Amino acid sequence: MFKKSKKDILQAPRGMRDFTGNEYRKYQNFWSIAQKIAENSGFSGIETPIMEHTEIFQKGVGKGTDIVDKEMYNLETIGGDRLTLRPEGTAGIMRSYIEHGMGSLPQPLMFYYSGPFFRHEKPQKGRYRQLYQFGLEIMGSKTPIHDALIIQVGYKIVKKTGKEITVEINSLGSNDERAAYIEKLRLYYKENIENIAKSDLARIETNPLRILDSKEESTKLINKNAPLLTENLGEESQKYFDTVLVYLKEINIPYKIVPSLVRGLDYYEHTVFEYVTFDEKGNKSNALGGGGRYDGLAEKIGHSKAVPSVGLGLGVDRIIEISDNNEFKDNKTIGIYLIGLGEQGNKKALSVINQIDINENLRLYCTLTEANLKKQLSRAEESGANYAIILGEEEIKKGLAILKNLSTREQKEINLKNIKEEISKL
Ligand code: HAM
Repeated sequence: MFKKSKKDILQAPRGMRDFTGNEYRKYQNFWSIAQKIAENSGFSGIETPIMEHTEIFQKGVGKGTDIVDKEMYNLETIGGDRLTLRPEGTAGIMRSYIEHGMGSLPQPLMFYYSGPFFRHEKPQKGRYRQLYQFGLEIMGSKTPIHDALIIQVGYKIVKKTGKEITVEINSLGSNDERAAYIEKLRLYYKENIENIAKSDLARIETNPLRILDSKEESTKLINKNAPLLTENLGEESQKYFDTVLVYLKEINIPYKIVPSLVRGLDYYEHTVFEYVTFDEKGNKSNALGGGGRYDGLAEKIGHSKAVPSVGLGLGVDRIIEISDNNEFKDNKTIGIYLIGLGEQGNKKALSVINQIDINENLRLYCTLTEANLKKQLSRAEESGANYAIILGEEEIKKGLAILKNLSTREQKEINLKNIKEEISKL
């Protein structure tokens, strides 16, 4: 049997990472900003299991998509269930909506969610096997204003990167229009089969829409004359799309219609979109997030009724990676390094920690070790804390502590009885 070497098992699985220190905080700060924006826009939280029955994704996201065909982490439980680590959130949330009869509640329901997702992709910068998403879903409504609301709230969150963001948008039309268009496209690719890149050939049968955003040069040439989806929309679908665009214009969201934008999941119809940025040379970034309308998903996974819905998923790893402002850094919190000297000092430190109110906007650092003042002060300076509170045995006897500003190096004595108030004043 193949045995993993010691070195291998002491490394996180490929495409998966550990987070500590500042990196950990950036994710936490991102979550809290995104959550606040979602809650201030009418959404409430939902949490579903990290696994679903494999069929939920096979039927929902669709066989023929890369996610289902190549990237899922599938497992069979001891009890014989076939489960999959969720590659995305929407299908599981729709399962939850159906299971709990949420259709009988006043519609629409507006959810936000966050957490890890799993795709067995080729790892590279901005592409992980354990990735993090923040998502929004509006379920039980078919009106263009909800498409606009989803795009707007996602835009507000992605703008926190400090980058100029473009919304790329397209309409896939209704399910029937989309199906008719796929047939047209399949025929077109078959007619031009000799000029299509080898790696794209299988998709003519399985998923011709995905050939539209092929990176292969020869296929790109063929794509230049491929029939356009936007020219195959029925009157109603066109009207729906135009209304979404009018709303976006009214709220000043910069968008660009991109007819080749089809997205990699099968459940979409009508509106689809992605958030992107461009560098100085005009090169487009990976999508920072994307979404669209999925009116047919409920039926695809076995519900008797359609549940028209629209939503998005934001790529948290990518958003944090491209951020050039301090929004996700830990810069709004006061850092205090608590230095206890000797047993008495550390005992006092325990009692100070006990008194601190959870509402205080502060981050406390301490080690509660026997290390001397010099060592602890140098750790305090490295930690990024703004202040140190020094609890030395002599001062404690007098009921005092020393408060030191780590950037100006000024220090003063404070009364231990008032330590809570002194901390609040910082
Ligand atoms: P998605 O486009 O597959 O959509 O994923 C959303 C975002 O997650 C992407 O735009 C990207 O930023 C990020 N992402 C995807 N794969 C990776 C990866 N391997 N590494 C890092 N980031 C990644 C969905 O998942 C849909 N559920 C969105 C949705 C919600 N549509 C309607 N409602």
